[in-house]
Amino acid sequence: MRIILLGMGVVGGSFLELLELEGADLYRKYGLHPVVIAAADSRSVVYNPRGLDLRNILMYKRTHGSLQGHPNEVEGLDPVRDLDAEVVVDVTPSDFRTGEPGLSHLRAALQTGKHVVTANKGPLAVEMPALIEMFQHKGLKLLFSGTVGGGTPFLRFVGKCLSGERITSIRGVVNGTTNYILNRMEDGVSFSDALKEAQEKGYAEADPSNDVDGWDSAAKLVILSNWAMDLGVTLRDVSVRGIRDVRITEEMLSRGRTVRLIATADESGLRVRPEEIDRKDPLVVPGALNAVSFTAEISGRHTLTGKGAGGRETAAALLRDLVELKMHMGGSEPC
Ligand SMILES: NC(=O)c1ccc[n+]([C@@H]2O[C@H](COP(=O)([O-])OP(=O)(O)OC[C@H]3O[C@@H](n4cnc5c(N)ncnc54)[C@H](OP(=O)(O)O)[C@@H]3O)[C@@H](O)[C@H]2O)c1
Repeated sequence: MRIILLGMGVVGGSFLELLELEGADLYRKYGLHPVVIAAADSRSVVYNPRGLDLRNILMYKRTHGSLQGHPNEVEGLDPVRDLDAEVVVDVTPSDFRTGEPGLSHLRAALQTGKHVVTANKGPLAVEMPALIEMFQHKGLKLLFSGTVGGGTPFLRFVGKCLSGERITSIRGVVNGTTNYILNRMEDGVSFSDALKEAQEKGYAEADPSNDVDGWDSAAKLVILSNWAMDLGVTLRDVSVRGIRDVRITEEMLSRGRTVRLIATADESGLRVRPEEIDRKDPLVVPGALNAVSFTAEISGRHTLTGKGAGGRETAAALLRDLVELKMHMGGSEPC
């Protein structure tokens, strides 16, 4: 299976490491033989039609900070449009306003007949219903299990384990950064100090607004609810409020209550907002964990908890999607 990798950051780097580590097992267990023929960062593309030396590419990126000047660098080439491959793996940054650069990558993959595996929430947040329809129409797979929950298989759980049942509502804590901050505020730390801590620990980015203002949660809610409830929504359909003005008081805690940033999809619509919640509710999870409750019409509420992010964890989700793609492509021929 020939792969074009777009993005060589935290997740892209971990993905290459995992391919190195798991390569033999992937072939033995699934007949999957992933060959990364091209990799790109924001400035450069490296290419080898027989497959790049993954360890070498990783080392080069880590020591130089860029792929520029690598012996396999090719200039003036659009990797998705100009190269032949079965799959594009997109791990470029998530932009919730424009969906770029991921949206252009997905459109180019569609136009050139390539499957896509992505952890990038941007394109799905702004255009998920149309993208799903276009990929289906072309008989191509668009797989995105790493977009929600990092390595925790929220999407796969609801898609596979609850298949055949109607999902009537979703409620989730899907942003680890805000969950960490709210947990620390429970300990009496101020919002700004908790945010600083989250940045020091690498949970929050230098510009934390996508997390603390609720947009990251809203993007994940769009993906979850389209996938599990077939709602056909985009980010424009979500009412969003973040946690900047949240107060967690002693009095609230003594009543057994706290505050969490909850993303909800139900008969009243889609919303992200801080909510007062019972401290024993399964959605009240510690640290930077995530938790999502799916309510199914017959079997009731199911809650899954796990790490919401992490380079290696998200790379594992990409690998799961590649295995699924291999199953979909079928045949006994190693690919
Ligand atoms: N990190 C996580 O735990 C996690 C979890 C779930 C989902 N995600 C999603 O996964 C994606 C990647 O996350 P990350 O943490 O790896 O981000 P990151 O460390 O910022 O890496 C992004 C990479 O994309 C490259 N890039 C930017 N524009 C590009 C373009 N037009 N073409 C090709 N490459 C381009 C960057 O290049 P430079 O190296 O030159 O800057 C960088 O290598 C994001 O969409 C994120 O929301 C991340």
